Amino acid sequence: MTSDAAAVPSRVADSAFLLACRREPVPHTPVWFMRQAGRALPEYRALREGTSMLQACSTPDLVTEITLQPVRRYGVDAAILFSDIVVPLQAVGVGLEIVPGVGPVVAEPFRSAADLDRLPALTPEHVPYVAEAVRSLVGELGRTPLIGFAGAPFTLASYLVEGGPSKNHARTKALMYGEPELWSALLDRLATITLSFLRVQIDAGASAVQLFDSWVGALPAADYRTLVQPHSAHVLRGVADVPRIHFGVGTGELLHDMGSAGADVVGVDWRVPLSEAVRRIGPGKAVQGNLDPALVFASAQVLADKVHETLEQGKAAEGHIFNLGHGVLPETDPDALLRVVELVHAGFEGPSAEGR
Ligand code: CP3
Repeated sequence: MTSDAAAVPSRVADSAFLLACRREPVPHTPVWFMRQAGRALPEYRALREGTSMLQACSTPDLVTEITLQPVRRYGVDAAILFSDIVVPLQAVGVGLEIVPGVGPVVAEPFRSAADLDRLPALTPEHVPYVAEAVRSLVGELGRTPLIGFAGAPFTLASYLVEGGPSKNHARTKALMYGEPELWSALLDRLATITLSFLRVQIDAGASAVQLFDSWVGALPAADYRTLVQPHSAHVLRGVADVPRIHFGVGTGELLHDMGSAGADVVGVDWRVPLSEAVRRIGPGKAVQGNLDPALVFASAQVLADKVHETLEQGKAAEGHIFNLGHGVLPETDPDALLRVVELVHAGFEGPSAEGR
């Protein structure tokens, strides 16, 4: 194992995270966690006391501090901006709230062509607090890269059309299949907003971006390709100056097409082993994932074995960024995540003789 001092790169571009995104040799497998900032951390809960989620997201000092908390505690290889996928929608005037324990709730769901007028283009003036937080973070983070992010058009459309979180995305699918022209116009608007929101973060100094299409796993691949992928591809083409990670949950059948949408790194949930994911995605991409976030509740030995298994399977990839298969669960013990980071950084060369 390399000493910490030896592993510190001189420039952010040489960080293990960005090297892995570019499929270049790494000093150790980089690791960060989706939703690494949040309720699992007591210091987060203390700071958020009395402030709503959307208020917190628009306060640069709070965004900066909350983004840094998991970097300090876990020593992860990347920070991710503290924000939410619905922040740009609220910024352009969509009435919504983030309800604790529920998620985003939209006051007036999207129903007809007239509602397109409620989705104007986003300009940097809509989100001055995002650029300010990113600039302050880039200064504080030094050689640790900052990941910017946004929601992909399908997942944003799902919240807008359903009016909130949904298991079956029934209204969304009814619109998508029943009124394909309106669907296309809606996704066009959302792609424009998402692309501008990512540009604000990149132009302020974010080193990479992740496009979250969390709920797109609800679609068959053929429909994904015709009704969703072109809009995600539009977003990803516009941010080609930084590494682009593209992730969704339950996307085993879509991995190849999500890569083709223009990702440099394809995020994989825990349902598909990384070695199989690499086969499905094909050459020329790095992968990110994919430890089941529930495994932090298992014994230390089981957790360590699963971390090692994930590292081993990740060797099939041209680049591997270790992560969970979805976000950190709020009940997670932060010490378990700290152990995961230590195990990933220590590396794994194969099963050890002892203790097996
Ligand atoms: O990863 C990070 O540390 C950055 C922060 C981040 C948040 N939301 C903060 C947040 C990121 C990357 C997101 C993206 C996001 N938001 C997604 C895509 C990622 C995924 O999980 O698939 C989605 C689908 C949303 C919508 C959303 N916002 C949900 C489902 C929730 C959880 C609702 C709940 O209370 O359980 C939110 C709220 C939210 N976003 C919280 C955080 C830390 C919890 C709110 C709180 O702490 O009060």
